Amino acid sequence: MITTEKVSIKVQQTTNSRVGELDYNKIIFGHQFSDHMFLVDYNDGVWHDAQIIPYGPVPMSPATSALHYGQAIFEGMKAYKNDKGEVFLFRPYDNHKRINISAERMAMATIPEEIFMEGLKQLISLDKGWVPDTDGSSLYIRPFIIGTDEFIGVKPSDNYRFYIITSPAGKYYNAPVKVLVETNYIRAVEGGVGYVKASGNYGRSLFPTKLAQQRGYQQIIWTDSKNHRYLEESGTMNLMVVIDDVLITPPIGDTILAGITRDSVLTLARDWKMKVQERKISIDEVIDAHKRGTLEEMFGTGTAATIAHIASFGFEGKDYELPATEGRIFSNRVAQELENIRKGKSEDKHNWMVKID
Ligand code: COI
Repeated sequence: MITTEKVSIKVQQTTNSRVGELDYNKIIFGHQFSDHMFLVDYNDGVWHDAQIIPYGPVPMSPATSALHYGQAIFEGMKAYKNDKGEVFLFRPYDNHKRINISAERMAMATIPEEIFMEGLKQLISLDKGWVPDTDGSSLYIRPFIIGTDEFIGVKPSDNYRFYIITSPAGKYYNAPVKVLVETNYIRAVEGGVGYVKASGNYGRSLFPTKLAQQRGYQQIIWTDSKNHRYLEESGTMNLMVVIDDVLITPPIGDTILAGITRDSVLTLARDWKMKVQERKISIDEVIDAHKRGTLEEMFGTGTAATIAHIASFGFEGKDYELPATEGRIFSNRVAQELENIRKGKSEDKHNWMVKID
């Protein structure tokens, strides 16, 4: 039993570590899970019985409410190892704040900071050997909360479980992506839940994405639900464009997730005195910039990929190619700087990194 001032976590260590089986050069995102997981239950208004146990299946009633009405939210975050073998989390307090914003919107129990942070720290510390140190690699961390009432009436669950599982990760995309500007299906609406990490947001995106993939695109650029003119997100990521040396991204609102990578990229751009605009951007403006030759860069930002360059976009039956990714000054610079900060090679001016002891 490891006890901190406020949080006691019962630890059951595996006797059969799988870490030796991992080939760090062949990591496929999301397929392999580290030796341990963290979980804690919420009943009668109290989070209790925090534990770290060997990773594996957990029995669950088929009536579990999350399975029926989607009270399920998650976070995505990463741990990094520097040259000295030290392990750091990237902006974990921001993930904690955001999971509680999701919890509130989905009428779920919020998770106290000390449980979230202590669970993370002890879990990652125990599974330090699973944090890869090769270029562009990290340990992807998936905290999530589900409603656990055994009840199929429609109401907010009274009981919840918070889990953390982790998975070693290499590059999310190996090449720049070809995207389709979606003008039929929608991801999010005003007054909806697009701004939170609710599992259903991802589920609803799969069918339109599958249709786009059948047409040769890898991802969708979502547009506004009213007129399909304004660009919103790119697949599961925030979207950014550089036009005439100005970095433009849609503003946070009901339909846009407050991405932590998004914020990090905007912060670095402002540090570098780049002109940044958080405003609506229409497909017409982007096509016009493409015609004038001023559309310099287009990319997604997210935890999984950090920066995903967009090679081309399709709109109303026509494909528009962007300049070669090698020459894209801002997105390459910001991707490298984020990697350097995370691996301890650049100064962490904004105190984003939290060391795991
Ligand atoms: C991200 O890009 O950070 C995501 O949310 C993707 C994740 C769902 C795998």
